[in-house]
Amino acid sequence: MARPDNTIEVPYDRIRAVDWVENHLRLIDQRILPGRYTHITYDNVLDCAHAIRDMVVRGAPAIGITAAYAVVLAARNRYRADPKSWREAIQADLKYLADARPTAVNLRWAVERMRALITGLPDGNPEGALLAEARRIHADDIVANRRMGELGAALIAKGSGVLTHCNTGALATGGYGTALGVARAGYANGRIAHVYADETRPWLQGARLTAWELVQEGIPATLIADSAAAYLMKQGKVAWVIVGADRIAANGDTANKIGTYMTAVAARHHDVKFMVVAPTSTVDLATADGSAIPIETRPQDEVLSFGGTRTAPEGARAWNPAFDITPADLIDAIVTEKGVVEHPTREKMAGLMAA
Ligand code: MRU
Repeated sequence: MARPDNTIEVPYDRIRAVDWVENHLRLIDQRILPGRYTHITYDNVLDCAHAIRDMVVRGAPAIGITAAYAVVLAARNRYRADPKSWREAIQADLKYLADARPTAVNLRWAVERMRALITGLPDGNPEGALLAEARRIHADDIVANRRMGELGAALIAKGSGVLTHCNTGALATGGYGTALGVARAGYANGRIAHVYADETRPWLQGARLTAWELVQEGIPATLIADSAAAYLMKQGKVAWVIVGADRIAANGDTANKIGTYMTAVAARHHDVKFMVVAPTSTVDLATADGSAIPIETRPQDEVLSFGGTRTAPEGARAWNPAFDITPADLIDAIVTEKGVVEHPTREKMAGLMAA
């Protein structure tokens, strides 16, 4: 069945976190899933930037797609205010949007792509051209995810168990997902028999979002505390760890949700393979290695409280980095829509991006 974005509906692909509906941006509010499934509609760029910062929408590709649609809203409002100066006025919006979260490079990638289009547009109402570009970014992401699903699943032996971290599914992307796309494809073709999901403290993307997607799809899944991952590997339950990425540096070092690095260390110790699945919009050749990736620090409250209730004593303090860096030498495969890089190096990453 054809969808409004001209992609074809495939099995295990029903959720759209980001959508353009009746000339507005519509997001699923991921802060309150799975308890409540609601949408919020946006008509201006500042609210979109706040939605990214406050995690209404999250996941690197979904943030990028949101930003692309937010630029359409910014252009609409700036053009209405003054058709002559909108191109200069929108620059402040683009900066505000790009600064909403620092680690996921897809955000800046999408803003830069929209900025480049703005620079070359003829005079006149820019909305149609910008909306077409945002829709392209969105549709391309879904196509990339399906391709990565096939490529990643092909690396896995039939009937395997896999472990995933954070949420990398339809909620984190344009649709279908990156690492969770591999889980979808692998379950559909029999390579994956069972998915284990880390709950992903402190924001619980695994418990609240990944488990929600897997239950909806009917994919056999078991949630574990993050601290159970090494013991799960010791039991021989998983052949692969499969994760997404917020930014892949030029040498293959990968920033992803906090806890990914310790999972990669445990995987290497237990002879479990480690796969990163991300579109090339997440690869940042301008960042030489992981040490140059900016890591977002989020509010202490996310660690000191649980579900809005304070769990740590008054006076206790917390450190809450939202991401960590997995060094390239702990990664067995980086799967992109352009192909698979095994045992990533700077040369192999450059070759992939040049292809
Ligand atoms: O803080 P979040 O929820 O935006 O972090 C998300 C992740 O770390 C994902 O693993 C990553 O963005 C890849 S999503 C396909």
